Amino acid sequence: PSPQLLANKQVVITAGPTREPLDPVRYLSNRSSGKMGYALASAAAAAGASVTLVSGPTQLTTPAGVDRIDVNTATEMLDACQRVSAKADIFIGCAAISDYRAAAVATEKMKKSEDSDALSLTLVKNPDVIATIAKTYPQLFCVGFAAETQHLKDYAQRKLKDKNLQLIIANDVAGNKAFDQDQNSVTAYWHEGEKVFPEQPKRQLADGLIALISQLFNHAN
Ligand code: PMT
Repeated sequence: PSPQLLANKQVVITAGPTREPLDPVRYLSNRSSGKMGYALASAAAAAGASVTLVSGPTQLTTPAGVDRIDVNTATEMLDACQRVSAKADIFIGCAAISDYRAAAVATEKMKKSEDSDALSLTLVKNPDVIATIAKTYPQLFCVGFAAETQHLKDYAQRKLKDKNLQLIIANDVAGNKAFDQDQNSVTAYWHEGEKVFPEQPKRQLADGLIALISQLFNHAN
């Protein structure tokens, strides 16, 4: 996008997976690499925004000019987002955040059972980061992603409404798509429209998404 598109705007972006510990050596996580969120951070910075990237564990280097805060768990991600969103204009939730965490984290490594082949874990719900941020800071323009293996449009539009977002980026993650890939295709849904982004490199896709976000943001403000 043109360097002016997000001049003087503060953008908070979440990226990557979260890790929910089970014991000192094990965790629950997912296949997010952080590539899409980091590409968005790079594109937003190139569009003139001041960007804070709240990142789960990834192998990626921080894009030039971007402030990065590293977190592990969903709770840590929410705390970091709460701290940095008060003065922000736009919040983009690209992280793949665990919906659940262990009800209790074992302080010592869990031992393999001698007498049972099955192990049950009790999980409790994590806070919904983007829904909490949208509720706490109603002035924010909030953009979510929806990663779905079925009923993509329906589920994405439901998340748009239920989480009180301005825009949602629907990601078909059936098969080997989206997670950890260098290319992706998505469909953006907002309350008055939709737009298809065909398969392309994530950095190029990020430019297109940032252009759409700034257009809708300017229309709303
Ligand atoms: O990192 P990559 O390998 O490049 O892959 C990119 C991606 C596929 C991870 C990314 O493009 C993507 O789709 N991210 C959202 C993944 C996801 O967890 O979606 P969801 O449908 O479960 O969540 C919906 C929205 O709520 C998302 O904006 C998510 O950040 C947010 N959420 C979810 C759970 C939770 N507890 N708190 C949240 O804020």
